[in-house]
Amino acid sequence: MTEKQLIQKALEVREKAYVPYSAFKVGAALLGVSGAVYTGCNVECASLGGTNCAERTAVFKAVSEGETSFQAIAVTGDPDQYTYPCGICRQVMVEFGKALKVIVAKSVNDYRVYRLEELLPHSFTPEDLDKAKQQEDENGI
Ligand code: THU
Repeated sequence: MTEKQLIQKALEVREKAYVPYSAFKVGAALLGVSGAVYTGCNVECASLGGTNCAERTAVFKAVSEGETSFQAIAVTGDPDQYTYPCGICRQVMVEFGKALKVIVAKSVNDYRVYRLEELLPHSFTPEDLDKAKQQEDENGI
């Protein structure tokens, strides 16, 4: 699976976006370590806070299919400007690893590639909770 192929999948699922309120379509394609690709679009809701972003749709689909290790995610939103994952999606993605490759694409020929840790530096991750738990165990609490 090349970067361009992953972007193509994100562009395709972007067409499925359910966006009656913003009309802002986003598509994401998440490549698992297994080689499987999980696609996701944004799904809006009349109670706007219930909206789910494309990236989280893809992550939740993957996890619910049993995959939790990922190589890369491609994100496509506005074709005229780069659409970066929102803060909530960055936090959800970092749950599964800060080395994730994040491909932010306008098109298959116009994209930027990052590591998640560049987009979410100094992140709060599961390891932070591991340390706290270890300390608690050592203190016998
Ligand atoms: N949106 C995403 O799907 N992903 C992002 O990273 C940015 C925002 C969606 C949420 C909402 O449906 C629309 O874009 C406008 O905020």
